Amino acid sequence: MAIGILLVGGFGTRLKPLTNQTPKPMLPVGGLPVTEHQLLAAKKAGITTVILATSYLSEVFIPYFGDGSKWGMQLKYAVEKEPLGTGGAIRNAAELIDLEAAKAEDEEFVIFNGDVLSHHSIAAQLEFHRKNKADITLHLISVEDARAFGCVPTDDQGRVTAFLEKMDNPVTNAINAGCYVFSPSVISDIPLNKVVSVERETFPNLVNSGRPVFGYSEQSYWLDIGTPAALFKGSRDLVNGAFAAGEGTTFGPDSLATGGSSIGANCEIGQGVRIENSIIGDNVKIGAGALIRDSFILHGSEVQADAQIVSKYLSPTENLEISPA
Ligand code: GTP
Repeated sequence: MAIGILLVGGFGTRLKPLTNQTPKPMLPVGGLPVTEHQLLAAKKAGITTVILATSYLSEVFIPYFGDGSKWGMQLKYAVEKEPLGTGGAIRNAAELIDLEAAKAEDEEFVIFNGDVLSHHSIAAQLEFHRKNKADITLHLISVEDARAFGCVPTDDQGRVTAFLEKMDNPVTNAINAGCYVFSPSVISDIPLNKVVSVERETFPNLVNSGRPVFGYSEQSYWLDIGTPAALFKGSRDLVNGAFAAGEGTTFGPDSLATGGSSIGANCEIGQGVRIENSIIGDNVKIGAGALIRDSFILHGSEVQADAQIVSKYLSPTENLEISPA
């Protein structure tokens, strides 16, 4: 069965300050870290061995996911001292696997950008890859306005013909959705311990040298949570109602949560508190009469009674503005 690699080592600069203490993939959406949603999707496709390719705040992942047995999976951790880029991270992670054995058995790798929520069928993407005897198969998604993205044209068999940079008149609305199947030989061709980008180097180089790179198009729920607005949207989409709260969370009289807010486990919410369109972590205490709107409250934070928290990032040590994205 295929092996998963999750790319979770980026700095998450566009999400600052939310990523000051939490790596982007560990930010909670709908009550669970993005990475956990992705592990569940991988498992659904039968992938049970997954390597987390970590770098920035790598120490945050292991205490939460451990060896993966809680999810019935086997998790391994690759750590880059300095971020190696998406390609370098994949190569470094594959050091934890016997690549020669993977080649002998034609065992594919499924690579996930760690900041994407996607409901596409990974199993169908793998099948498409095998049918085409591809080197790489990317999930492609069609967006209404592709000008903000690089676009990925394909021929009528789904073979990728080019990787094009952002442009005013994109030739197609199909964009790279951030989930790739790699044949093992492609991974061993990436240089070890060098900074490499799959998007800017590996993919275009393979296409230019005539190698079989395919696009698997499936139009299902898809969201890149790379900005604060997108992160809040992802959480609202998962909550799909007024609010969701984790186990052990208690609400005082006359408190009200709305706007698809997500509240973690074991929170104490005081009397008359209002929570609107916000993400709140576990073990948060909110004093009576406080208002929390469009804000992100990190695990373990405390909000004073009657505080007005609007468009803020709050952690046990920081209280900062979230700039509109
Ligand atoms: P921004 O700084 O806001 O652009 O975010 P990012 O660099 O964290 O993410 P980007 O969207 O550029 O990268 C896509 C995915 O690859 C994210 O899940 C990142 O965590 C991951 N990633 C990016 N660069 C590296 C890297 O050098 N090493 C590892 N292990 N992962 C990376």
